[in-house]
Amino acid sequence: MSLVDTLGRPLRNLRLSVTDRCNLRCAYCMPEEDYIWLPREELLHFEEVGTLVDVFLDLGVDKVRLTGGEPLLRRDLSELVRLLAARPRIRDLAITTNGVLLAEHAPALKTAGLGRVTVSLDTLRPERFTALTRRTTHAQVLEGIAAVPRAGFTGTKLDTVVMRGVNDDELADLIEFARTIPAEVRFIEYMDVGGATRWSMDRVVSRGEILDVLGHRYGAIEPVITKMGEPDSTAPAERFRLPGGLTFGIIASTTAPFCRVCDRSRLTADGMWYRCLYAREGTDLRGPLRRGAGAAALAALIAGGWRERADRGAEERLALRDRAPLVQIAALRQDPHLEMHTRGG
Ligand code: GTP
Ligand code: 5AD
Ligand code: SF4
Repeated sequence: MSLVDTLGRPLRNLRLSVTDRCNLRCAYCMPEEDYIWLPREELLHFEEVGTLVDVFLDLGVDKVRLTGGEPLLRRDLSELVRLLAARPRIRDLAITTNGVLLAEHAPALKTAGLGRVTVSLDTLRPERFTALTRRTTHAQVLEGIAAVPRAGFTGTKLDTVVMRGVNDDELADLIEFARTIPAEVRFIEYMDVGGATRWSMDRVVSRGEILDVLGHRYGAIEPVITKMGEPDSTAPAERFRLPGGLTFGIIASTTAPFCRVCDRSRLTADGMWYRCLYAREGTDLRGPLRRGAGAAALAALIAGGWRERADRGAEERLALRDRAPLVQIAALRQDPHLEMHTRGG
């Protein structure tokens, strides 16, 4: 029988954070001046990642996404891609990157067998990028995005976190830009995850507002319907079509969460396994692995954790009346695993 959690959700989607370091400081994710980093000797070696991934594949995972921090900061990442691409049970092998180092790495990632690339792009304006990320590498990001189709990738996505007063006047420009790549843009509601210490509801631009703004500009927007007649809401994004035929997605995790169909979990670079983006508690897999636990013991640990899973983090946040940042700075410093950039989104 297949493995499901207390809400009947299968374990299918594994997000592998390969480093907690990042070469940007996006205001919605890493607004602080300094951070406590995971000790290097605690990071999983690629071989250890491979061992754990095999256990997850045995339990039903068939989608793996490499995340960070910024995953391209992990040395020899293409080697890990090669190792994972050799596992045919991974139906979808993808990466989420900020694009800064992508121009340099895209060809090697493709050769190594990576399937798809998603790049975070919040603005087309260099000066805004600098204000938002505290780095001056906007041109490199654009070069990185251009390198993706050149390396032979298709199915490329651009992720834009929309923040009021920051980039909410660029929605149409981003859609037009994505068309030229070609890629599909997805607008993400600003989330009150760990690390988003400056979050407030008035900075969130909701799915409803995004659709209003784009509807005024382009005319009637239709939800994308699949052949079976259901809206194409392959979580987390809902997809929409503009009158001219262009499509885009919205990830409404803040105002319309998808917890009820959430099949994700995440492994941090040091081998902590979290079953929800908002979870306080995770399961240490590195410890047992390094103490010699075999595949069966690891599978029992993971299967047990999944069977008990009741998380609906984003839905619980939605039910709160006075929503404020999830975790305060002191707690983040005590346990960096609570940070979005450690957990990998
Ligand atoms: P595909 O749909 O397979 O392309 O991947 P994805 O959308 O899962 O990957 P991506 O890393 O691009 O995720 C997009 C964004 O959705 C993340 O950066 C988060 O902002 C948000 N997100 C990802 N996972 C979760 C989750 O489990 N819960 C919630 N609430 N939001 C998530
Ligand atoms: N809200 C929404 N998305 C976030 N990300 C990080 N922090 C947040 C947040 N507070 C996601 C974005 C970004 C990726 C690296 O992580 O999708 O593109
Ligand atoms: Fe899944 Fe937790 Fe995100 Fe909800 S908040 S979609 S349960 S990871």
